[in-house]
Amino acid sequence: MGLRIALATLHLVALAIGIAAVYARGRALRRVTGQQDLPNVLHADNGYGVAAVLWIATGLWRAFGGVEKGSAYYLESHWFIGKMGLFVLVLALEIAPMVTLIRWRVALQRGQRPPLDRAPRLAVLSFAQVPVLLLMVLMAVAMARAW
Ligand code: HEM
Repeated sequence: MGLRIALATLHLVALAIGIAAVYARGRALRRVTGQQDLPNVLHADNGYGVAAVLWIATGLWRAFGGVEKGSAYYLESHWFIGKMGLFVLVLALEIAPMVTLIRWRVALQRGQRPPLDRAPRLAVLSFAQVPVLLLMVLMAVAMARAW
């Protein structure tokens, strides 16, 4: 029971951190005018990374670790399949921001100045994930109640 509550709590904490962080990253990217703005972007990106790890680890554990309703329940749920489909969409929207921000981090570590011309596009890709994540919440709530 303790593990079940802990995983459910962490899954929802990931939701709070994740939506705030991806929105903050979008705002920070939209406001980038020079290298001095990069710490804000990378700080928000760190938060989104933490949320992603928490989301995936607790979600998979709850779905397939036998702590909730069991794998069969979820694999037969159209809501769960829909939620995972949206999760794949979020991952697809995240590829370009993830790859580019890793490149920026590497450049900064080498003392170089990364080219920032892609920042506005990465802002759009960050903001675009917010409604998809909110739709995932709808699917999750329906899934948990066996509709
Ligand atoms: C690999 C990714 C994920 C997996 C495998 C996963 C799996 C699960 C599972 C098994 C539950 C428990 C449902 C129940 O009580 O029977 C759950 C709950 C929930 N998930 Fe996820 N999840 C993932 C990612 C996400 C993401 C990205 C979000 C938000 C955008 C999210 C939002 C929620 C919410 C809000 C609940 C609580 C539903 C409720 O009890 O009303 N999950 N998830």
